[in-house]
Amino acid sequence: MMNQTPRILVVDDEPLNVALLEAVLVSRGYAVIPATNGKAALDLIHQDNIDLVLLDIMMPEMDGFEVCRRIKEDERLRDIPIIMLTVLYSKQDRIKGIEAGAEDFISKPFDQGEVLARIKMLLKMREMNESLRSAYRQINLLGSLGESMIHHFDPYNFDVMTGLDLMVDQIMGRPEGNLGGPELIIVGLKSDNQVCQWKLFRLAGSQLRQQDFEELSFRKLLDLIPGDKPRTVCFNDGDPVPPELQEVIDNLGTSGLKVFNAISYVYPPLRLFACNYGHRVDQHDVTVIKHLVMERLFFKSIADQITAVEDAFAYTLHTLARAAEANDEDTGNHIVRVGEYAAALAEHLRLPEKFVRTIRIQAPVHDIGKIHVPPGILTKPGPLSEAEWVIMKSHTTSGGKILGDHPRLIMAKKIALTHHERWDGSGYPHGLKGEEIPLEGRITILADQYDALRNVRPYKRSFDHQTAYKIITEGDGRTMPGHFDPQILQGFKAMAPRFEEIFDTLK
Ligand code: C2E
Ligand code: SIN
Ligand code: SIN
Ligand code: FE
Repeated sequence: MMNQTPRILVVDDEPLNVALLEAVLVSRGYAVIPATNGKAALDLIHQDNIDLVLLDIMMPEMDGFEVCRRIKEDERLRDIPIIMLTVLYSKQDRIKGIEAGAEDFISKPFDQGEVLARIKMLLKMREMNESLRSAYRQINLLGSLGESMIHHFDPYNFDVMTGLDLMVDQIMGRPEGNLGGPELIIVGLKSDNQVCQWKLFRLAGSQLRQQDFEELSFRKLLDLIPGDKPRTVCFNDGDPVPPELQEVIDNLGTSGLKVFNAISYVYPPLRLFACNYGHRVDQHDVTVIKHLVMERLFFKSIADQITAVEDAFAYTLHTLARAAEANDEDTGNHIVRVGEYAAALAEHLRLPEKFVRTIRIQAPVHDIGKIHVPPGILTKPGPLSEAEWVIMKSHTTSGGKILGDHPRLIMAKKIALTHHERWDGSGYPHGLKGEEIPLEGRITILADQYDALRNVRPYKRSFDHQTAYKIITEGDGRTMPGHFDPQILQGFKAMAPRFEEIFDTLK
């Protein structure tokens, strides 16, 4: 980064020349660092933050060409412009100088106006080069962050305020080593009910420390940043503090932090305050922040939309399951509970999150086929006749037909078809055995039976948890342990209290 007062290294073995140049340059607001030989010049340029070099050629020990070559060989110094001080009209010197990598030449004895004009031009060029490079670096960083966001994007668990460290890392420039990025970033989310959530990130050495706002001693800083419309405010060290940020800065001050080079950016519902950049903040820094904030808000918007569509889908399935109950005895929350037991079992079996989510909303339609079973059969208080059983059992296949072949309903269809198939092959409608029965069917049969046992049916009384547990795990003649996938039955035994809890809370 360029210094605010450009620092010029003047290298000449003739002290009078150094003094002359110094007088001219200092009067124009430049800082001059003098060196009287090549070795001293190289030492200084390594230690000091130099913006430009004025380099004499004829020097004892190490001449100007050699000094120039060494500077240009060094990756970190290469961009510092070098002006060589040559003897008037020495074509030879100029060619050697170009070969050594010098940017420009000034003939001795030099003309004051020319010296100043060339220095100004080269410094301007250096500044432009630097911003070009920084823009390029930022574009690369933004690109890779975008890729990573898409790769990890999970609309069901997306939260604007978690995983902010990736964004903060980019703004701070940490992946590249801190390139003058801000030391402190505060991000706030103002939700619809106007409650704010804040996170503060602070660079401590090379570590990024994250603190939830509640842990902090200062007041809710970003609450103090006014405005519900998009707005950017930048200010740099030495600029007057914008009145709207005065309170924020005073507050940070109470924690011992002096604020300089800062950007405050509001784009509802997010707001961000980044400060103590290692350089004066400019439009580049604003662009980076805007881009990253927009990217997060974009993903939030997508996540919100997907979640809304998913909610509508779950709601529709729920409605469908309810419709199927119309002819049945009053089973209350049976359909919801079956989804919950099934999801709990699936979770216990460490099945993928997507499977758990799907079975929770799709297991409830397991009995959708009962819509085709006459109410007289469904509500019959006593045992069913053989003919009635045939109709009753067909609720599985008619459920499968109703649900059809839409890809989003594959699990629901499998469950409708197989939730009465038994592990030992004695179930219906197809007498499938063992792993021929889809996993979701093997899970749902247990969930369904537990809940049927706990409830009153027209044909049966209700049982308490202990009795239901005993019937499932030890059998009662009608139900037998061999009906269930042993692993799932094992899972049920391990987590039976959770079944009881679900039954009690969703009665
Ligand atoms: P459901 O009432 O929802 O019961 C689902 C499953 O829970 C039953 O599947 C059965 O495996 C289990 N279950 C229910 N009550 C008991 C019980 O008292 N003891 C034991 N050991 N298990 C029980 P299943 O047998 O294939 O029955 C499917 C559906 O057929 C039942 O759904 C119900 O709607 C109907 N159903 C079954 N038996 C009768 C009955 O005797 N009378 C009437 N009206 N309907 C019946
Ligand atoms: C803006 O584009 O919102 C203004 C940026 C700035 O204040 O520099
Ligand atoms: C799974 O998605 O984990 C299993 C699916 C199945 O068994 O049908
Ligand atoms: Fe059923």
